[in-house]
Amino acid sequence: MILCWGEGHGSSIHDHTDSHCFMKILQGNLKETLFEWPEKKGNGEMTKKSERVLRENQCAYINDSIGLHRVENISHTESAVSLHLYSPPFDSCNTFDQRTGHKNKVTMTFYSQFGERTHCVSTR
Ligand SMILES: [Fe+2]
Repeated sequence: MILCWGEGHGSSIHDHTDSHCFMKILQGNLKETLFEWPEKKGNGEMTKKSERVLRENQCAYINDSIGLHRVENISHTESAVSLHLYSPPFDSCNTFDQRTGHKNKVTMTFYSQFGERTHCVSTR
């Protein structure tokens, strides 16, 4: 899938449902922050492992054994576009609250599919 990031837009901290996740920056720069999985109960600030800025044309990879991440366009002036490949595909994942480590299952939605605008059904 292709994601378009406005200035300041960012994802939640999330996992990847036991899939392989490849990401390529097509335009702009995105900051990736890696986190450790929270303790079982999730009851405290999540631990940051690393952060880096991915630049145009750079590729990145993550899976659940590497950890969790957040992706952000930290620019105030430039938008960004990224290409994501998931294998196998998945239709839900978990997001995590950075302060508490609590997780929340979310369904993937698409603004458009095969060039057609989708009618997103929100689950939250
Ligand atoms: Fe991700």
